[in-house]
Amino acid sequence: MTERFLSYGRHLVDDDDIAAVVEVLRGEMLTTGPMVERFERAVAERVGAKHAVVVNSATSGLHIACLAARIGAGSETVTAPITFVASANCVKLCGGTVHLADIDRESLSLSPAALQRTLAAHPSVKAVMPVHFGGLASHAADLRRIAGSRLLIEDAAHSFGGAYEDGRLVGSGAYADMSIFSFHPVKPITTGEGGAVVTNDDELARLLRLFRGHGIEREPARLVALDDEGTDTPPPWYYEQHELGLNYRLTDLGAALGLSQIGKLDHYLARRRAIAAYYDERWRGLPHLAIPQSAPGERARSGLHLYILRFDYAGLKTTRQQVMAELRKNGVGSQVHYIPVYRQPYHRDGVDRAAFPESEAYYRECLSIPLHPGLTDAEVERVIGAVRNVCMRNG
Ligand SMILES: Cc1ncc(COP(=O)(O)O)c(C=O)c1O
Repeated sequence: MTERFLSYGRHLVDDDDIAAVVEVLRGEMLTTGPMVERFERAVAERVGAKHAVVVNSATSGLHIACLAARIGAGSETVTAPITFVASANCVKLCGGTVHLADIDRESLSLSPAALQRTLAAHPSVKAVMPVHFGGLASHAADLRRIAGSRLLIEDAAHSFGGAYEDGRLVGSGAYADMSIFSFHPVKPITTGEGGAVVTNDDELARLLRLFRGHGIEREPARLVALDDEGTDTPPPWYYEQHELGLNYRLTDLGAALGLSQIGKLDHYLARRRAIAAYYDERWRGLPHLAIPQSAPGERARSGLHLYILRFDYAGLKTTRQQVMAELRKNGVGSQVHYIPVYRQPYHRDGVDRAAFPESEAYYRECLSIPLHPGLTDAEVERVIGAVRNVCMRNG
């Protein structure tokens, strides 16, 4: 039997997940029915937040978070350049400005020192948006302190189930006003496509719900134009649009899958963490290889969406493309996460790459290797063998 190709990330869907979705398919509501409400309660409970607003992607979540934060023309924000483009794009979709601040070498996330410098240069920044890269939430207390009274909106797309340095859960509101999770198939749990914004703030939650659904208000006490209908009580068909929103609703199908998956999150995280800790151990002593995000305790609290290695390709007398091809020959996938945002043609105007020495060094060296809960022990050994070969033959 041929061995399966191991991609850097993959969903794990069992028969009971499938049964949960089929049950919805046989029912009355395919979208925004009882499963959405149940899933929202489960997400909020899991991370210890007062409110969870589920959406059809983390990108949608970031967008409504920016809208709820009233980011608009003239609003300035800060985020990190080593992230998927969605983090910065959602600010720009709202008409705001993005200042990028360099990452920290070890955590690969927004550097507190770089944030401090950026805020000194742009004191009117309204929101700080750290990215918990790969699932690891770092420097939470420092970033909160430096952000001061500004809004702190976490891109926690990678870190559902992860915890801060002090053990409190990402999404609990310990350090952020809003946290955004992704439930894309390669993330800690999946709804197919999907995401959530969590917050402890009642007003932000109300706005998030409004922006998720076209800006339409149905709450009787909030209606403002009933006079036009010649009545004090809303007629059955009645609603009012109060904001400019979108359709970012999650389906009941996705919510049923998410609800089934969330029950397995601890098991999935334990498997991800065990594999990561084992990888860490097996690279010790290999030449021209560095292992970020592996300081004591970090693996055990990370959402571990990604497992990243940093290669000195020149030292190994090879290139990243050759390493990727060599791994692929052994059925081992790898990927680059991510091209720095400021290198993208859409975002690069006026950016001096020299201002981002850590992001540049990271981009030169990084490679994500397979990490997902469905990897068998034999597959983990196959990944280790392939990586060790690359380092030993050329080292
Ligand atoms: C850091 C980060 N933020 C946001 C997103 C967007 O997530 P989604 O695909 O659920 O829209 C991603 C996707 O990979 C991501 O990596």
